[in-house]
Amino acid sequence: MTIIVTGGAGFIGSNFIFHMLNKYPDYRIICLDCLTYAGSLSTLEPVMDNPNFRFVKESITDRAAVEKLFEEEHPDMVVNFAAESHVDRSIENPQVFLDTNIIGTSVLMDACRKYGIKRYHQVSTDEVYGDLPLDRPDMFFTETTPIHTSSPYSSSKAGADLLVLAYHRTYGLPVTISRCSNNYGPYHFPEKLIPLMIINALHDKPLPVYGEGLNVRDWLYVEDHCKAIDLVIHNGRVGEVYNIGGHNEMKNIDIVKLICKELGKPESLITYVTDRKGHDMRYAIDPTKIHNELGWLPETMFTDGIKKTIKWYLDNEAWWEPIVSGEYQNYYEKMYANR
Ligand code: NAD
Ligand code: DAU
Repeated sequence: MTIIVTGGAGFIGSNFIFHMLNKYPDYRIICLDCLTYAGSLSTLEPVMDNPNFRFVKESITDRAAVEKLFEEEHPDMVVNFAAESHVDRSIENPQVFLDTNIIGTSVLMDACRKYGIKRYHQVSTDEVYGDLPLDRPDMFFTETTPIHTSSPYSSSKAGADLLVLAYHRTYGLPVTISRCSNNYGPYHFPEKLIPLMIINALHDKPLPVYGEGLNVRDWLYVEDHCKAIDLVIHNGRVGEVYNIGGHNEMKNIDIVKLICKELGKPESLITYVTDRKGHDMRYAIDPTKIHNELGWLPETMFTDGIKKTIKWYLDNEAWWEPIVSGEYQNYYEKMYANR
């Protein structure tokens, strides 16, 4: 089995590559990643010397490069993680989100059509469903919840999902889609809530909570997401969408307070800042379908997962320090100064 994993130098893609190489020692895994600000070869260091692994630095939007790779490798599957993934950046500059997330997806699927494929899997997000009201804890996203996006990021992911389903219906491409809730764990880029708060707290810097911090996210440990995708690509039904989430809803403010507690830092570091534009209130996944059809259940409790994650950031400063001391400084200044 040969699998092209796009975006494998980022957070979830790298964790997926580690999972697959470990679980399937006879699979060949090719990582296709153009190394944007969010991708790093240092993340893939643990597998670079593995003879079953190959790294290719190209963009999924580059048709010639993608076709060349298909001609060289004859992949059985493509798992597409490659994306611009940060909502705040999409609000500042939507264009690159459309290029990578929509056009890139179409380029990959065109290559799948041209050369043949057993499975094209699209890694999507619960954000395509929009948000849920805080006062309706009985409501959850199911696979049939209408697409109703809020940000340029979620709209670009929804556009890609619709294209994937269209390629299935029109061309018979054997596709699956998974829509997951918020992930956390090792190699999470420091611009995102949990790593940002851990690293700022370690430096005794202000912890910038948007609005009142009452927005709710449904957190899943990244390894559990990777195991779910593994099940979907092997056993999921072609043409189907699978929601992934672990019924672990938490308010942002409670996460930040927990991080302060775990690190022994004062809550006085918490600073309420201007809210994100169009900020989604609550995400909550109903994972009944993947549980009933594929037997998936999350394995890591949040209380354990957050401890493991904090420990990982404490032990791996060599991974994140070069990131936060480089171009990230300009990003941080632009997004958070005078907020
Ligand atoms: P990330 O930003 O950490 O990593 C994205 C990776 O894609 C990087 O390595 C980057 O270099 C690469 N990339 C970007 N543009 C590319 C291009 N044009 N060609 C090739 N590579 C490119 O993202 P992540 O958090 O790991 O998310 C991975 C996927 O999972 C995304 O599709 C995202 O929408 C989806 N997702 C993320 C979460 C989450 O909580 N992080 C939850 C649900 C779904
Ligand atoms: O739900 C899945 C999505 O989760 C993925 O599709 C996205 O790729 C991923 O980035 C994530 O999106 P969010 O917008 O939920 O994640 P983020 O870490 O940016 O923010 C989480 C919450 O924390 C959100 O309500 C905004 C808030 N926040 C975020 C940052 C960066 C703050 O209050 N302060 C911050 O500095």
